[in-house]
Amino acid sequence: MRFSLPLLAAMFLLAACSPPGEGQSAPKADAPAKRDALGFPMADRPVAGIVASEWSNGPDRDAADESGQLVRGLEIKPGMAVADIGAGSGYHTLRLSPAVGASGVVYAEDIVEAYLSGLRREAERRKLRNVKIVVGTPDDPKLPAGAVDRAVMVHMYHEIESPYALLWNLAGSLKPGGRVGVIDLDRPTNSHGTPPALLKCEFEAVGYKRLSHGPLEGGIGYLAVFEAPAARPKPADIKPCKAPPAAR
Ligand SMILES: C[S@@+](CC[C@H](N)C(=O)[O-])C[C@H]1O[C@@H](n2cnc3c(N)ncnc32)[C@H](O)[C@@H]1O
Repeated sequence: MRFSLPLLAAMFLLAACSPPGEGQSAPKADAPAKRDALGFPMADRPVAGIVASEWSNGPDRDAADESGQLVRGLEIKPGMAVADIGAGSGYHTLRLSPAVGASGVVYAEDIVEAYLSGLRREAERRKLRNVKIVVGTPDDPKLPAGAVDRAVMVHMYHEIESPYALLWNLAGSLKPGGRVGVIDLDRPTNSHGTPPALLKCEFEAVGYKRLSHGPLEGGIGYLAVFEAPAARPKPADIKPCKAPPAAR
């Protein structure tokens, strides 16, 4: 039997577009999430690139008193140890330092050393003796164990490559009942925001409990507050979360 070229092309297209029949395997919709060498799931969603040392592409955060809203929302008090995760050039570190006072400490942590060198110089210039600079890694803020009352993650969560490992390591540095406050925009992660349901799912996967969630005044995003886990799960038992399709 001989087939003409247009007929062969039509048969090929039909076969390629047909649903899989018996014996053919359909593409897997839910392949297991990739895990790192320690067993932590990798983020199963886009991760935004690191583009700047300070959040500056939104409404005026000074006018909205973003820092005051953060301090009040997290009940930050003099004498506390606060970790500024993804401190960058220190927008919040420089404001948290007077809030915790001489008896408190602010751990200014980031993974980009060049950002931290600028912050170190600025803290020295202002004689802020309670600021300690910490160079972390994408999966570990490298903070002292059981030492931190409050951690803040401001406009940076969507840039974390290994959220489960980072939250697990961060939990080890929080005191019992310690809290983490996340400020971000309700946008897909690849547009420099984090959908609130995805954020809650990722924190809960590591054992944190969400205490509150609400918009900040001034249209500068939301503040979500989580309590540290009483016990950390084994990395291999952490179930990763999927971003809703619209947020991927
Ligand atoms: C847009 S800047 C925000 C800086 C500051 N928090 C603010 O509100 O202006 C995001 C910062 O998060 C840092 N970052 C990204 N991934 C990180 C990670 N896994 N651990 C710590 N810092 C990270 C970046 O280096 C950058 O300094």
